[in-house]
Amino acid sequence: MSEGSFSKVGVVGLGTMGAGIAEVLARGGLAVVGVEINQEALERGRGHLEKSTGRAVKRGRLTEDGQREILDRIRLTTAFGDLADCDLVVEAVPERLDLKHKVFAELDKVVRDDAILATNTSSLSVTAIAAATGRPAKVVGVHFFNPAPVMKLVEVIGTVLTEDGAVDRVAALVRGLGKTPVVIGDRAGFVANRLLFGYLNDAASMLETRHATRDDIDTAMTAGGGLPMGPFTLMDLIGLDTCLEVLEAIYAETRDRRHAPAPVLRELVTAGLLGRKTGRGFYSYGDAAADAGPAQDGPPPSVAIVGDGELSRAFAAAVNAAGAPAAKVEEADLVVASGEDIDLAAVEGRAKDGAVVLGEGGLTGGGALAAHKPEADRPLVEIGVTPVTPPEAADRAVALVARLGLTPVRCRARRGFIVDALRFPYLNDAVAMLDAGYADADAIDAAMALGCGYPAGPIAEIDRLGIGRALDQLEYDPDEANPGVSDRLREQWDLGLTFR
Ligand SMILES: NC(=O)c1ccc[n+]([C@@H]2O[C@H](COP(=O)([O-])OP(=O)(O)OC[C@H]3O[C@@H](n4cnc5c(N)ncnc54)[C@H](O)[C@@H]3O)[C@@H](O)[C@H]2O)c1
Repeated sequence: MSEGSFSKVGVVGLGTMGAGIAEVLARGGLAVVGVEINQEALERGRGHLEKSTGRAVKRGRLTEDGQREILDRIRLTTAFGDLADCDLVVEAVPERLDLKHKVFAELDKVVRDDAILATNTSSLSVTAIAAATGRPAKVVGVHFFNPAPVMKLVEVIGTVLTEDGAVDRVAALVRGLGKTPVVIGDRAGFVANRLLFGYLNDAASMLETRHATRDDIDTAMTAGGGLPMGPFTLMDLIGLDTCLEVLEAIYAETRDRRHAPAPVLRELVTAGLLGRKTGRGFYSYGDAAADAGPAQDGPPPSVAIVGDGELSRAFAAAVNAAGAPAAKVEEADLVVASGEDIDLAAVEGRAKDGAVVLGEGGLTGGGALAAHKPEADRPLVEIGVTPVTPPEAADRAVALVARLGLTPVRCRARRGFIVDALRFPYLNDAVAMLDAGYADADAIDAAMALGCGYPAGPIAEIDRLGIGRALDQLEYDPDEANPGVSDRLREQWDLGLTFR
């Protein structure tokens, strides 16, 4: 069996990505030639392949015969000359342009003239790699995600030099391998990383400016943003050196301040704290289990709900679910007041001593705290503090909210709190990408849902949350130039349209 116009495919570099890509190709029935730099690295590559397919056998997803067939289809070698009769070669050596140039020069010499050469680079220019070969029309990017056997997304990149048909052939191969190809041009970060890293960098800046703690930001984005992991957990997993490299590449192209790597990233990398792989990054690994957050024990507090604003309605539902006793404002441990014409200061004046009063945005300057619940059906409650908030009031608020079965985090009471402050600039970036004709809505949504495991892509997400809310969060002012806000977002709003 072979996939379309390719039957024999080479993979150069059998590290984390190359071994995974070789496995995917062999699972698809293709003959694979895997090349490593020396015998020792080759054995390491063989180890990756055996371990990964062995895991599939253990989980019952592959028979032992199936595993043997896959491994038999992969020929391992240290001789570039063995790639001579490949139809396609995928390069997956470390992310250094000089090294990529060296490997492509070698490939150019040994591989058939009509074969396609592909790079798995994450952040280098595919055009720069192509231009240094004698066959730039036959060079494309195929960006697999880690781990390649599992992740469904593959970004397929054509440059201005790529000949007609090459990208389509590679995209057809990717589809035949059971993956979803997203075809795009050669811009730093492609789709998924370009959108992801702006957000990760914003999170790092948020930590640096002490808007919120590492744990609260991570919790906010999982419990309130619905993401599979928080930004600091993810950066540690990717490796902070890689994060810095990708951001530098994107920043060099966009010159957008949001992509200028947050100084804390550079500091950690300089100190050799690269994340999981070195045992320490934003988090330390191998320590005793992390603090589980505020204790949820103790009976649910008595709660008074005032008004029917969003916050009050969300808390009413939580109070119901927790079976918490309803109380008068004068007697309640926790008072939640939101809605039109709510005088928060007056509510606060009626509350008993030591009660926590949560309001929506509006602050009294007294003890009342601003709270925000980004999604009614998710457990997160963001508690905003100001310079005049007594710290013990914030502690009490966190404890009381946790006892209602909700997930509290605290941050400065500033626009967007944590979740909205991080997600709306990211959604705006996605709309700008769409507007630039760089990728269509399906491609953008597939990139984030399949490449990053987001519950929904950003274009679908902006329709769900509402363009009005996005413009509000991005501080859009129709009477001013708003360089940060995508024109497309404003147009859709003016025309009363959703994106889909
Ligand atoms: N790791 C990821 O999450 C990830 C995800 C997507 C893309 N990428 C990209 O994939 C590429 C490879 O990354 P990785 O994480 O697999 O790196 P890695 O360090 O795990 O593997 C690279 C392999 O290339 C081999 N190698 C080095 N020089 C060679 C040469 N001259 N000839 C043959 N083999 C050589 C090394 O021995 C090593 O086994 C990079 O361009 C990276 O940006 C990485």
